[in-house]
Amino acid sequence: LESEVLGAIAVADDLAVLDSIRVGELGKKGRVSGLMKTLGKMDPEERKVMGPKLNALKNKLNDAIDARKVELEDAELDARLASEKADLSLPAAPWKSGALHPVMQVFEEIEEIFGAMGFSVAEGPDIEDDFHNFTALNFPVGHPAREEHDTFFMVPDAEGERKVLRTHTSPVQVRTMMSKEPPIRVIIPGRVYRNDWDATHTPMFHQVEGLVIDKVTHMGHLKGCLTDFARAFFEVDEVETRFRPHFFPFTEPSAEMDVKCDRSGGNVKIGQGDDWLEILGSGMVHPNVLRNCGLDPNEYQGFAFGMGVDRLAMLKYGMPDLRPYFESDVRWLSHYGFKP
Ligand code: PHE
Repeated sequence: LESEVLGAIAVADDLAVLDSIRVGELGKKGRVSGLMKTLGKMDPEERKVMGPKLNALKNKLNDAIDARKVELEDAELDARLASEKADLSLPAAPWKSGALHPVMQVFEEIEEIFGAMGFSVAEGPDIEDDFHNFTALNFPVGHPAREEHDTFFMVPDAEGERKVLRTHTSPVQVRTMMSKEPPIRVIIPGRVYRNDWDATHTPMFHQVEGLVIDKVTHMGHLKGCLTDFARAFFEVDEVETRFRPHFFPFTEPSAEMDVKCDRSGGNVKIGQGDDWLEILGSGMVHPNVLRNCGLDPNEYQGFAFGMGVDRLAMLKYGMPDLRPYFESDVRWLSHYGFKP
């Protein structure tokens, strides 16, 4: 029996055959198991001889099966490795790289342009208090300009204070003036929120604020700085700019800046034609704001400006609708995004 089974194990050439041998000999109803059962009926003398013999047989067959199993598994692996060889001459699978969102691209462009003029970057919280978003910026309580901002209010906290989602980046002007000694030259990129929704307005959008505070600062600096910016940003040497009087509670005088453009034929071309397009709000920092931030208006003056980044990106890169900016559609992102 022993040599017969060992022979069968040696020639078993796949794992299934090997397993049927194991079941046929050592399984519950196997031949060796059957012999083991006869031990009970043997007389004690015979059992003393046969017991160890049968146990040794069982172990020997088990070992032989295990050893053969390892051999067969190795062979199977070798065969698989040989058949699945990697073909190094095949072209590589296409690598899908991400793209920079146009808003982030424009943030970087703006930071670079003002960085070259000596501005550094400051930031503030998206959830603001009434003081920084309105009061310190010379919006008195009940002033109609507050209503124009379509503010999102938070649920009042334990002290009954109603925080807001900041409606502009201007509160960071206040934070900067209250925490830094002049001279100040900062730009402030960030998200802002207003309850508004159509092709050119989304409830969350992006602004870049600018603030300059120094001992002798005037409208000429403001105009020169922002005109230089427009030329650098739109990458045209001679963009004509126009400053129109406007009103903001926190600047006096205030002005909106327009750039010369051509609107005939659908998309806007900056630096040509004779239409005007408003791109930012600006003005000299109001003396009340300086005082609210602990600065003496007789010692310091400054100018500030704020621009909508999403709209600047639409203009520069010819995107017709603002809403897809925030819909996370990968097709839109890979079409308009910036590949590194
Ligand atoms: N905060 C203003 C707005 O959101 C823009 C602005 C900033 C105007 C700074 C003047 C000075 O409309």
